Amino acid sequence: SQARIGLVGLGVMGANLSLNIAENGFPVAVFNRAGSVTDAFVASAGALSARIVPAKTYEALIASLAKPRAVIIMVKAGGAVDAVIDALTPLMEPGDMIIDAGNADFHDTRRREAALREKRLNFIGMGVSGGEEGARHGPSIMIGGNPESYAVIRDIIEAIAAKHEGAPCAAHFGPDGAGHFVKTVHNGIEYADMQMIAEVYGLLRDGAGRRPAEIGALFADWNKGPLKSYLVEISGRVLGTPDPQTGKPIVDVIVDMAGQKGTGRWTVIEALRLGQSPSTIEAAVAARSWSSEKATREEGAALFDDLASDPLLIPSDRELEQALLAAKIIAYDQGFKILSAASGEYEWNLDLASAAEVWREGCIIRSALLDDMAAAIREGLPQGQLIFAPRFAGLIREGARALRHTVSYAASAGLPVPAFANALAYFDTMRQSRGTADLIQAQRDFFGAHGFARIDGGADRHGPWAGAVAHS
Ligand code: 6PG
Repeated sequence: SQARIGLVGLGVMGANLSLNIAENGFPVAVFNRAGSVTDAFVASAGALSARIVPAKTYEALIASLAKPRAVIIMVKAGGAVDAVIDALTPLMEPGDMIIDAGNADFHDTRRREAALREKRLNFIGMGVSGGEEGARHGPSIMIGGNPESYAVIRDIIEAIAAKHEGAPCAAHFGPDGAGHFVKTVHNGIEYADMQMIAEVYGLLRDGAGRRPAEIGALFADWNKGPLKSYLVEISGRVLGTPDPQTGKPIVDVIVDMAGQKGTGRWTVIEALRLGQSPSTIEAAVAARSWSSEKATREEGAALFDDLASDPLLIPSDRELEQALLAAKIIAYDQGFKILSAASGEYEWNLDLASAAEVWREGCIIRSALLDDMAAAIREGLPQGQLIFAPRFAGLIREGARALRHTVSYAASAGLPVPAFANALAYFDTMRQSRGTADLIQAQRDFFGAHGFARIDGGADRHGPWAGAVAHS
């Protein structure tokens, strides 16, 4: 029998995605570079193996597919994707399509889409979020590529995606790299969200001297309110989990050096290229980078061991909850602004509300807040700012006071909260009608005759620097 879709790469994500496809009633042909992996996969698939067609060669994979053929690639991002594309394309016919479901750099997706288009093949960049569980039981899916080819596989994608009140958390965002770009920004926001939760954990651990299980219980409590989200939930569970070997809290036996595969960094790089500055996301990327300098931090701790601090009163649990909520909304504000800037630059016509909607279930940043965010975007964001939206301005007003106390407390106690501090600085900047860039403009004009605009609209665009007074 002919399979509706093929899949290359039976790592955990690829294997789970295949099972998800089969479970939803679609015959799927699978291929893995090591054939033994394919055999083991089919052997472990139980009843679902009836809808799984194992292929030992690319030729066999292609031969088992109904036309137009569609093959999902789920291999490590980068060169491995190009290698699979090179193996598949000579076997394909015009109208066939390749779908990259990995965490690709959207520039690669644009390049690949253009190259395949030359061969009259379609290329779809598909961001998939939700980790292993999501892939198996319903991820959030962000599609980029030509809409006609997406129409061919849409029934499969919507069937395997997570559902929010029955609606699939899958959407087509635009051509070529649009889906992978939305996924990249999702991951940037994921980094900020994780970092902010970790900052609260740090304040409670090092400021209040609370034990992990107590902090976990607080997070579990927060997960019943407006902060209800997958990341708050799992953080609570993690903090309540003991290490089976030592009986200590598991976080106490984990080395405090964070890994990163690149998507958070890409978000920042692309944002900067677009003239944006997602400072909360950058803070999260920076915190991970700094965390990896363990030996340096140990030396720093010894060197400045004698530095005393005079901490303010620690914020209450309620204030920390409000601060986390406000900072999180600010991170999303910055994330949506990147999407909006990219949409303009690449002419994608991205539907930001649709991004918020597909993130409501299945993905790592799923949270109760996203419902309101989607609604706020549909209502129209004043100045493109989520934090100005009537639905959020009240929360932000309340939360800003708590955020300010939290950042002040952290500074006074000598505890780093880079994401919170950046969120607050951004908020305070966006509510300051007269900033300090008048001086920056004067400095630029002084040393480079760069010129400035006058508030009275006057024509003289340069300062009288020749006669400037030198202060000694
Ligand atoms: C998801 C995750 C997933 C993965 C990333 C982030 O949406 O399911 O974002 O894609 O966890 O690779 O990984 P790093 O933290 O290693 O950058």
